[in-house]
Amino acid sequence: MSKEERINTFKTKIELPSVKSIIAIASGKGGVGKSTIASNLASALSKTGVKVALVDADIYGPSIPLMFNVVNQKPQVHESNGKKTIVPIEKYGIKLLSIGFFIDSEQAAIWRGPMASKILVQLFEDTEWGEIDYMIIDLPPGTSDIQLTITQKLELSGAIIVTTPQNVALASVKKAIEMLRQDKIRVPILGIVENMSYFISKEFPNKRFYIYGKGGGDKISKELNIPLIARIPIDREVCETGDAGKPIAMQNQGLISEKFRDLAGLLIENTKKEEV
Ligand SMILES: Nc1ncnc2c1ncn2[C@@H]1O[C@H](COP(=O)(O)OP(=O)(O)O)[C@@H](O)[C@H]1O
Ligand SMILES: [Mg+2]
Repeated sequence: MSKEERINTFKTKIELPSVKSIIAIASGKGGVGKSTIASNLASALSKTGVKVALVDADIYGPSIPLMFNVVNQKPQVHESNGKKTIVPIEKYGIKLLSIGFFIDSEQAAIWRGPMASKILVQLFEDTEWGEIDYMIIDLPPGTSDIQLTITQKLELSGAIIVTTPQNVALASVKKAIEMLRQDKIRVPILGIVENMSYFISKEFPNKRFYIYGKGGGDKISKELNIPLIARIPIDREVCETGDAGKPIAMQNQGLISEKFRDLAGLLIENTKKEEV
């Protein structure tokens, strides 16, 4: 099947009437911090008092269950009139859904793209979301069937692109952006987040160390005319809090938590403008 044909097969939209804004977090390649940004943005949004859902669509490498310390939890399934519905797992006030709640990633690895997409669509449709202001979707890296399915079948308010400052990351980012800008997809790109931008040490709090190079996010922002909306420093605590199951943005203080608060604020402002 050509990409074109696949897009056509997925034409019918998924209706999620109780969800106001859906934002996809995308990247060109894995390991750039997409799940970290998705989890922390969801946390920062939730702290402002809005209702948030976080969907882990990275079917081959789900990490949201770990980042929220709910690895062994299983969502409840309700059955009424012969129809089964899934109740998302709620943590820190955020409704979570991940393929990782249902199967292990080795099992998912044997699914081919169309099969994985079908299962994902079913998960979206069969879940009792309730009222949600922002649904954040952690997409798999790259430009595969899953991205096509989600960007085609869901009415997305926009996408945020995550990258790191290196050149190799930038080349793949361009591809991901090109996909989102295709005629039949046309997801508005809200901005680029440059992750692992720089390092600040305790000894030199006013100095930024550009470990992975400097200016990559700016370069792509200028080239593709997309705003750079955040620079997130590299910090051991980001990694540790992620592994410990409580995103750093849940903290009330600290530079990184502030960065995510600003990013959440920006997103809220942006989506408000759309409503006017
Ligand atoms: N700003 C950061 N500072 C330190 N570690 C980070 C940062 N962002 C991500 N990481 C770590 O890098 C690894 C990859 O991040 P992850 O969010 O899983 O990437 P992706 O979802 O793009 O594959 C994880 O161990 C994560 O904790
Ligand atoms: Mg991930």
